[in-house]
Amino acid sequence: MRITESLEPNLQDDAVLEKLLEMNPGEGIELVRGENPQPLLERLLREAPLRYDFAPLEAGPARWRFHVHVREEPVLRSVSRYLAWDHDRLDDILNRAMEFGRGEQWEEAATLAAEFRVGLFRHIEIEEAILFKAFEEVTGMREGGPTEVMRHEHVDIKESVDGILQATVDRSLDDLERNHANLLGVLIEHNMKEENILYPLTDRSLDEFARARLVEDLMLH
Ligand SMILES: [Fe+2]
Ligand SMILES: [Fe+2]
Repeated sequence: MRITESLEPNLQDDAVLEKLLEMNPGEGIELVRGENPQPLLERLLREAPLRYDFAPLEAGPARWRFHVHVREEPVLRSVSRYLAWDHDRLDDILNRAMEFGRGEQWEEAATLAAEFRVGLFRHIEIEEAILFKAFEEVTGMREGGPTEVMRHEHVDIKESVDGILQATVDRSLDDLERNHANLLGVLIEHNMKEENILYPLTDRSLDEFARARLVEDLMLH
């Protein structure tokens, strides 16, 4: 899960691809670009459809950074696999932010808290804009269903994430711990409900082609 190397922003797309092909399953790299790397990410999916997972660490406007991870096995894509991977990735960033905060290394804590915010807000955005719509369509469950509960929880989650970032900027360990506790009070169960109910139900309602297309939409959004 951890990132072992950072790729220079001026590296040509071909050189990036070559570098990524040298990596082993389970390894991660940080892709740094001066512009939105959407075309490069689309190319990754086209040339090696099952090899990578990726998600943003920084989303412009001056710099884009993506975590590109070589999947353990090139198995078929599913919502469950991709978004559970992203949950774990985000947990890891948050844990490191908290370690730095508790060690009063505030600059590092703030950098990681900003990465966490970019990643989690984007995760919520793709769930709401793409996944929940697909879920509602295939299951017919709308008002009063699980997506409504998830949307409400997202509001609380975002508030706590903002609080965590602000606390690292203000260098307040009390605020950091309070917002962290508030976040975990919602997020742990939220992620579990998604991983146990929402994601698998969506996966099961689609054939493998529709499922792969949906996951690629999530990845490239
Ligand atoms: Fe969610
Ligand atoms: Fe989620």
